[in-house]
Amino acid sequence: MSKIRRGRQKYYNVFSYFYDLFIKLHSHNYGEETRKFLVDSAQLEEKIHPRVLDICCGTGSVVLAFAKQFSDILAVGYDFSLGMMHKARDKDVSDKIMFINGDAARLSFADESFDVVCCSHALYELKNEVRKAALLEMKRVVKPSGLVLIMEHEVPRKRFIKMLFYIRMMTMGPKDSREFVKQGISPFEKIFVNVTLAHSRSGKSKLIICQKKPPGVADPIPLESMAKIQDKR
Ligand SMILES: C[S@@+](CC[C@H](N)C(=O)[O-])C[C@H]1O[C@@H](n2cnc3c(N)ncnc32)[C@H](O)[C@@H]1O
Repeated sequence: MSKIRRGRQKYYNVFSYFYDLFIKLHSHNYGEETRKFLVDSAQLEEKIHPRVLDICCGTGSVVLAFAKQFSDILAVGYDFSLGMMHKARDKDVSDKIMFINGDAARLSFADESFDVVCCSHALYELKNEVRKAALLEMKRVVKPSGLVLIMEHEVPRKRFIKMLFYIRMMTMGPKDSREFVKQGISPFEKIFVNVTLAHSRSGKSKLIICQKKPPGVADPIPLESMAKIQDKR
């Protein structure tokens, strides 16, 4: 891992102490509704033992929402900050979720292991090449019939709020994060098929729904991939 990325890791370790409070103030009452929207969009109702991976899981709000909704789920939260993951693990009272420490640009899972791979409000904070690598990794580990769900902040409409949004992005994110949030679905269309865009009810977040292959492509029997996940438990 590069020096810069190690620096980012330290930054997130410190941020983990007040991240949840920051999000509460930032998203007001919309957080739960937004997460529910993501979980409902995963279309897992018919699946038995669905397998879900949440990369850049932070303090675990999304992966916890999945575990709450699907009792037989195999859920994995993945993040490179141990500080964030400790906070997430503390919240998992059911002890159902597997938390794995690692870099989003190099996922430690076999190909086609998951029904859903998601990433919430994090891609815009990654450097361009890390973001691209992470998207390719998400595509690699999702099943052919699975979904990749990316949730990102929507650019605010009100001028003043928009200005604050961009200031935050300039101070916290990599140089190209502003471009990235403005681009809409085009970066995803270069990697996935059937890319669609939806918005949470509040309009503050957008959800990019991506498929790996066109519908109708069957999943192979996941022998090796399942064994690899179970080894990690
Ligand atoms: C803004 S937080 C989002 C957390 C969570 N997904 C949410 O919606 O609240 C960004 C997260 O991405 C993680 N992260 C950033 N770069 C990463 C990388 N290269 N690999 C793995 N995790 C990374 C950080 O540690 C942090 O927890």
